[in-house]
Amino acid sequence: MGTGRRWLGIAALLLAAPVMAEPSDSRQQSLAYMLKHDCGSCHGMTLKGGLGPSLLPELLQQKGHTIDSLSLIIRHGVPDTAMPPWGPILADEDIRWISDQLLKGTN
Ligand code: HEC
Repeated sequence: MGTGRRWLGIAALLLAAPVMAEPSDSRQQSLAYMLKHDCGSCHGMTLKGGLGPSLLPELLQQKGHTIDSLSLIIRHGVPDTAMPPWGPILADEDIRWISDQLLKGTN
């Protein structure tokens, strides 16, 4: 026993804590579904592009996108293009979660 053990416990707790506020598991599932089907209707089911550009992580990273820049686009859409604003139907944490998924890659 002793302090070593206690620190391990604390480290485990910190690791388990979400880095940011995340939507619940079931919410994440419906967001993932939405990403595939709603966003996918323009960006392609596998997000490789269609009417809208590819949203694959390598490409987004190449363009210098961050969670913040993606969140802005998703929240407000891109004026004068087919990309609609999702702010009216998605919470901020939903949008940030989706942006994080896009940067990490969903599959
Ligand atoms: C009706 C078609 C349509 C739907 C649905 C749609 N998008 Fe888009 N999206 C576009 C188009 C078109 C663009 C390119 C706009 C431009 O020319 O800059 C775009 C651009 C983007 C970009 C910027 C990509 C880049 O390379 O800078 C992101 C991120 C994005 N969309 C995410 C999403 C997400 C997430 C969803 C679902 C919540 C979604 N889009 C749904 C049409 C769509």
